[in-house]
Amino acid sequence: MPRVTELNVNGQNRAVDVEGERTLLSVLRDDLDLTGSKYGCGEGQCGACTVLLDGVATRSCITTVGSIGHRKVATIESLGHDGHLHPLQQAFLDAGGMQCAYCTSGMIMSAYSLLQKKPSPSESEIIRSMNGNICRCGTYQRILTAIKAGARAMQGAAQ
Ligand code: FES
Ligand code: FES
Repeated sequence: MPRVTELNVNGQNRAVDVEGERTLLSVLRDDLDLTGSKYGCGEGQCGACTVLLDGVATRSCITTVGSIGHRKVATIESLGHDGHLHPLQQAFLDAGGMQCAYCTSGMIMSAYSLLQKKPSPSESEIIRSMNGNICRCGTYQRILTAIKAGARAMQGAAQ
C-alpha cells in the first residue's frame, strides 16, 4: 500500500508521511498528537477509538490510513470550540456519563454521528445505535441519560 502524505483531519489538511498500512488511530495519536481517541481492544470490538469518516462513525483501530482517500476525518478534538465544550460533551459531564472515561470519546463520537442523522432518537434507537460501544465501568444508564440530554441541547443550540 502506498505511503500517505496528507489527511484531512478536523477541517484541516494535515501533512503526514506514513505507510498506508498504518491504522488511522495510530497516526492520529502518534503522528498528529490527537490523543482523544483511545486504543481499547484494537480489534474493532469496543468503540473506544471511534472517529467520524465523512460523518460516519468508524473504528479507527481497524481503518488503515491508505483506505481513507479524500474522506474527512473528525475526532473528539473537533467538537468543542473556543474553550467551550460541545453541548453533547457538556451533557456527558452534567450526567456523570463516565467513571474512568476511557470509553467516553468513542461514546460521544458514536452518539454525535447518530444525532447528526437523527436529532431526536427514541431510547431504543439510541441503545441500538450505541450497541457496539462498550463501557467496562458499566456506566450505561448515565450514558443514555447524557445522550438524551445532549440531543435536547443540540436541538436547542440549532434553533
Ligand atoms: S480500540 Fe478500536 S474498537 Fe476497540
Ligand atoms: S467509563 Fe470506564 S470504560 Fe466507560
